[in-house]
This record gives sequence, structure tokens and C-alpha cells, in this order.
Amino acid sequence: MDGNGRWAAAKGLPRLEGHRRGAERLIEIVDDCLDLGIGTLTVFAFSAENWKRPAEEISGLFKLGEWVLRAHLSRLERRKVRLRVIGDLSAMPEFVRRPLADAIEATRDFTAFELVVALNYGARQEIVAATRQLAEDVVAGRLQPDQVDWPAVASRLQTAGLPDPDLIIRTSGEHRLSNFLLLQSAYAEIVFASVHWPDFTKDQLRLALAEYAKRERRFGMTPEQLHTPPTA
Ligand code: FPP
Repeated sequence: MDGNGRWAAAKGLPRLEGHRRGAERLIEIVDDCLDLGIGTLTVFAFSAENWKRPAEEISGLFKLGEWVLRAHLSRLERRKVRLRVIGDLSAMPEFVRRPLADAIEATRDFTAFELVVALNYGARQEIVAATRQLAEDVVAGRLQPDQVDWPAVASRLQTAGLPDPDLIIRTSGEHRLSNFLLLQSAYAEIVFASVHWPDFTKDQLRLALAEYAKRERRFGMTPEQLHTPPTA
């Protein structure tokens, strides 16, 4: 959800106002994804690197996150949205962790849609943690080195059980992944939107989906292989 700060600066508003408008936009886009029949939306709300920001902005963001959760939990429940979080929550303040845990628990049986919030998330940190788990399992004899394959790695990532992203949308004119779902995005299509996140309307989402629909996804195959049905 990149560009909240620049959106605010362009309007002479405080950065936090940009984040507030960004949070409102998120609520609208979640609703729209549900209406469109999309199954999973993962949003990068706070990166492991965002701790370098001024303390005032960080605490404002967390307060905003807490407010969004409290104000919209009933909406999530009504629309049968399951909330999940990826990232290291242990460093988050209690006043954010508590409502998050409540919301995760209250929505755990819903299957209509999964909203995954990446909080204090970094793909490299996630990969390091998974590698450490693999090493511990091997040392303890629970896993043989030759059993370390992609499913073994994927099941130790924080996204275990979630589908890999089909489409990644980066707003605000940036053309990079910035430590977001690096392994899971191996075959994702990436669409870059020039607008800042608070201006990422439903129309912008449709433009991104239209761009995605034009792409031919080959997953490493030649066009001929892709269009030839497998023989028995
Ligand atoms: C990036 O814009 C946005 C963020 C770092 C925060 C996004 C979070 C929300 C909209 C919702 C808050 C919810 C929770 C749960 C914390 P930027 O500040 O990097 O924009 P810039 O690149 O223009 O400065």
C-alpha cells in the first residue's frame, strides 16, 4: 500500500492523514475483491524495515491499525472474511496484538475470502526463520537432508497453507518487490500502478486485473507445451 506519505505531502497534509486515507481505501478494496470473487488478498501494512521511521509515525500507524480492526471486525464477520497475519508479531505492541488475536480467532472458520495482513513482515526474515527450522529438524533427526524439497520449505514459511500470489500490485510508481513474498512470487504477475495507494480506487483495481488478464502465464513452459494437453 505504497505512497500514503507522498499522497499526503502532495496535498500539504500530515503523513498520518495519508495512512488514514490508505486504511479507508483498503476497506473499500477488500469489499471489491469479495464482490469480484477473488479468494485471497495480502496487504503489506508494515514491513520489518518500517521500524526505521519516526516513532510518532509508527505509533500513529499502530493506533490506526487497532482502530481499523475494532471498527471493522463486524464487517469482516458479516462478509465471512478470514483474517490472517504474516510477520513477526512479537515485536508489536500489546494494544495491536490483542485485537488482532481476537479478530483472527473470531474469523478462523470463514472460507469465503482470506485477508492476509503482512505486519512486521520481511521475506528475507521469513526465509531465515524457515531455514533455521529446517536445520533444527535435520539436527533433531526429524528430517533427512535429502527430504529438504520445496514443499518442506514452503510448509515452514509464514504463508503455509495459502496460495501463491497470482498477481502482485505495486502502487506509487515503484518498480520493485521490497522484500515482499520473495519465494511465493516466483510465478506471480506484477502490475505497477502509478497512483499512490489512497488513490487506488476500484477502477484502478479493474485496470490492474485487465492487465493481468492479458498476460500469458507459462510457469517456465514453452508456449507449445502450455497449449498441449499432457499425455497419459
Ligand atoms: C506505505 O506508504 C504505507 C505504509 C507503511 C502503511 C500502510 C498501512 C495502512 C494503510 C493501514 C494501517 C494498518 C495497520 C494494521 C498498521 P509510505 O508511507 O511508504 O508512503 P511514501 O512511500 O509515499 O512515503
